[in-house]
Amino acid sequence: TRVEFLDYEAVVDYGWSLDDDELFRKAAHADLGPDAHGRLLVHPGESLLEAAERSGFAWPFSCRGGACANCAVYLAEGDLSQPTDHIMPDDLAERGFRLSCNGYPLTDELSVVFNVKQRPELDDLIL
Ligand code: FES
Repeated sequence: TRVEFLDYEAVVDYGWSLDDDELFRKAAHADLGPDAHGRLLVHPGESLLEAAERSGFAWPFSCRGGACANCAVYLAEGDLSQPTDHIMPDDLAERGFRLSCNGYPLTDELSVVFNVKQRPELDDLIL
């Protein structure tokens, strides 16, 4: 699975919105560093977080077991599996929030904003 990623810090810095259809196009035209915007591949059997780490990126995480939401990402395109045992409430999952530590790609292409743990709606989940 091919993943285009964007750091939520850049979304904040540029005053962009997560639900902006043009978000990744804007990111491509901004002068962002390779850690903030780019692409990586998820190999079969890898979680999104594992793939990011193997690719040399330091995305936030803590428990690695679905219990803290530090690893949360926002899905702009594509889908990422959600384990049955996790902390993410259904309403946030419906809005596209997922956990990267135990989320496995369900589509060949993904566009994700990582580092969304600072979003206010995730406050209560961060341990
Ligand atoms: Fe805790 Fe993913 S690192 S839920």
